[in-house]
Parts: sequence; structure tokens; C-alpha cells
Amino acid sequence: MSDLLAYYQRRASVRKFKPEPLREGDLEKLLLAAQRAPTDATAQLYSLLRISDPGLRRAISSHSGQNPQIETCAEFFLVLADVHRLRRLVEHRGGRFGHWPRTAAHFAIVDAVLAGSALATMAENLGYGIVWIGGVLNGIRQISALCRLPEGVFPVAGLCVGVPDEAPAPRPRLRRELVVHENHYPTYTPEQLEQAYADMAPMARGDWYRLLERYFAQGGTMEKREGAYQVLLARQGFDPDLPAALLAELEAQGREAGSLGQLIQRAFAQGFRSIQFHRQGHAWIEKEPQAYRGEGAPGEALAQALLQAPEERLIP
Ligand SMILES: Cc1cc2nc3c(=O)[nH]c(=O)nc-3n(C[C@H](O)[C@H](O)[C@H](O)COP(=O)(O)O)c2cc1C
Repeated sequence: MSDLLAYYQRRASVRKFKPEPLREGDLEKLLLAAQRAPTDATAQLYSLLRISDPGLRRAISSHSGQNPQIETCAEFFLVLADVHRLRRLVEHRGGRFGHWPRTAAHFAIVDAVLAGSALATMAENLGYGIVWIGGVLNGIRQISALCRLPEGVFPVAGLCVGVPDEAPAPRPRLRRELVVHENHYPTYTPEQLEQAYADMAPMARGDWYRLLERYFAQGGTMEKREGAYQVLLARQGFDPDLPAALLAELEAQGREAGSLGQLIQRAFAQGFRSIQFHRQGHAWIEKEPQAYRGEGAPGEALAQALLQAPEERLIP
């Protein structure tokens, strides 16, 4: 137990790796740890995609921002949220898979992170370095296509494992009272927020705000990722309003969308003047002299209507 305590006290992500493979038998230990992680209702809503093809690694790296360690680490995994296999299993026994797209994304991400985290912890305890790669979200659509991810599957993050060629100091964390609460969620005071910046000051050369701003403020990295992430998740079947199959057809025509709101905006951008949703379960889109009808719930009906109206006829 004291070993585990010491491990957590000194652990740090590693981004420089020696060009060496894992020792014989260690990959098996990593995968065993991943598979022993807890999983929602025994469903195992994740997959690990081990990227062994150097060309594929290079391609993934080129879509993942500044993360050259994707190519230099001994093992690189894409950690995937995955309800595709579960659906196959249910349908294999004649069941009809339920419609629970948000909940599916929720538990699939949880399962994926738990498996990846167990793998990472095992790797670090075997003396390897690891780093998670959220940078795969920069090119999530290209990477999903490169890896031929079917409907029901999307990348949560990448995970690099390898023989460390650096020993970074542990990075700071927020003080405990800011992240661990008792019974009720607190109201953060301005003093506590200032204290947080002081505690995290070793990051970003004394100005943690610079880092937060770059990622999370308006115009930052996260906002830039959001559009493609929405489109990919909807396309993979995780949007409650938009059927993945219809989105795939629209995408083939260059009319992609990640939410019903986006689909409506796209329709207007294509010159439709009005969209009518009827409670009988259909929608009309109209651009004189044509009007097109689709059936079903609003997202489905609108997507169908758009598919009736080939783009080339609508864009002047
Ligand atoms: C979900 C997630 C995504 C991350 N993405 C990246 C990444 O794309 N590139 C990178 O160099 N580090 C990445 N990291 C590593 C974090 O920067 C690192 O965990 C954090 O700075 C704390 O440092 P530590 O792990 O050394 O304690 C990621 C970590 C997590 C959990």
C-alpha cells in the first residue's frame, strides 16, 4: 500500500520516450489491467485500438496537434467509447437495441476511461511512462475514418505508453478543499479562486490563466474542437434527434450537421425560406417553387426532406 502511495505522490505524464519496445510479456499485463477495470453492468462499452502500423500512427499524429510522442512511444492506443459491439450482441439474440444515445455516450466514455486508466496505472507501475492524448479530438473525424470506426464507436483519447526518456517533476494540483466537498456543493469565493491560481502557478510559467484561456476561453482549442466532435458523435449515432444513417447520406452530399439546430441552420444556408414541423410527424422545407417533405420525429423528418432536395438544384 505504501508503494501505491509513493507511486501517486510522484507520478507524472511522460512525453519523451526511448525508441525501445515494451519488455516481453508486458503488453499482456497492460491489457489484462484494462480488461479487469470495472464496467457498467458488465457491458464493457469500450474498445482499445492498438495502433501498430507506423504509417497509421503518423497519419493519426498529423491530425492530433503537437503530439509527436504518438510516433515515438512504444505502444499507442486509441481508447474508444463503443456501443457497437453491445448492439451486435443484443441483436444477435433477436433483441431490439434501445434508443438511449446520451446515456450510451455517458457510460461508454466512463468505461473507456476506466479501462485506459487501469492500463496506464499498470504501465506506470511496470516502470513505463504514459501520456493521454486528448489532441486526437483535433482531427476526430479524420482519425475515425482512418481507423474505420463503425456507428456506435468514437475516440475518447489516445494513450501513449513507452520507456521514459525523461523524469518530469509532478505537476501541481488544486488544493483539496477546492475539489473535495462534503454533503453540499460550495460557492467558490474570489479568494479561493485567487488561491487556485497561486497553487497552479508553476504551470504556464507562473500564469495558469494563460493555459486555461488558450484551451477553454472563447476562441480557444475546445471551441475549435466542438463542431467536429458534435458532427462525429451525431454521425456515430449519439445524437437523440438525428438518425446516424440519414446523417451519413447527408454527409456524402457535404451537408453535415451535429445537432437539430445545426441542421436547421444548414437548411436555411442552402436557401430554404421556411421549415415547418408538424406534430403528425413530418416536416416540410420550402424554397419556391419547390417544397420537400420528410417523415418522422423533427430531426429525422428534416434530414429526410433535405435528402429529397439534391444540393445541386438548390445552390444557385
Ligand atoms: C483526457 C486527457 C487528455 C490529455 N491530452 C494531452 C495531449 O493531447 N497532449 C499532452 O501532451 N498531454 C495530454 N494530457 C496530459 C495532461 O497534460 C497531464 O495529465 C496534466 O498536465 C497533468 O500532468 P501530470 O499527468 O504529469 O500530473 C492529457 C491528459 C488527459 C487526462
